Amino acid sequence: MTQHDIALAVIGGTGVYRLADLQDVETRDLDTRFGKPSGPVRIGTLHGQRVAFLARHGEGHSVPPHQVNYRANLQALKDIGATRVLALNTVGGITERFGPRVLACPDQLIDYTWGRISTLCEEPGSDVLHVDFGDPYTHLLRQRILAAAASTGVALVDGGCYGATQGPRLETKAEIRRMLRDGCDLVGMTGMPEAGLARELGLDYACLAIVANWAAGCGTDEEITMEEVLANVAAASAGIPALVGALARG
Ligand code: HPA
Repeated sequence: MTQHDIALAVIGGTGVYRLADLQDVETRDLDTRFGKPSGPVRIGTLHGQRVAFLARHGEGHSVPPHQVNYRANLQALKDIGATRVLALNTVGGITERFGPRVLACPDQLIDYTWGRISTLCEEPGSDVLHVDFGDPYTHLLRQRILAAAASTGVALVDGGCYGATQGPRLETKAEIRRMLRDGCDLVGMTGMPEAGLARELGLDYACLAIVANWAAGCGTDEEITMEEVLANVAAASAGIPALVGALARG
């Protein structure tokens, strides 16, 4: 295998620990200049293309959002030659278009996280980078995701603002009301610093958000349970392998 034949790298979020349909899988336990990623990188073939997969929280969901080694995860994917990263992020829906089981490709984000290593600039000897982040997701990759969804008949909402919270607890209703006032449509715990680090690393990066529940106080007043989250992610994820296959080809 050459360094350049990874067509696409996929980072799976809560409820997505394997990429269904990935064939002839080779498992790599990698170490990077930032330490170890959350788990093994699995490289296989999907619809004729080489695709790499990494579970952001580890394959047994043992790493909480604020302790994910985002730098190591992205560096590991870069080290195997990936240049395009599709981030799967399980989220809550805040605004009307983003109800449970919706798939969305957000185009903006707001970062509410704190205390996470959010830049490469802290490395001794590294240059201070002020990367452009006005559009946090790579435009062309977003266009390709939307095209892949259209060609595979997977319903996907184009756009939306992802609010990244600290977690691991879910938000209060007042926090969600504030996020709504700020312009957020979706809420998740892992969108940052991942997107910013990807930009600093020069990786093409975009998010495919999987809506698992209504955010606190939105849509319904029911308590949010992990069972609901996982059941909705499983149901909403059915079209993802086909979409990823089409994206890797495109
Ligand atoms: N809030 C934050 N993160 C989430 C949620 C939520 O409601 N659902 C799934 N991930």
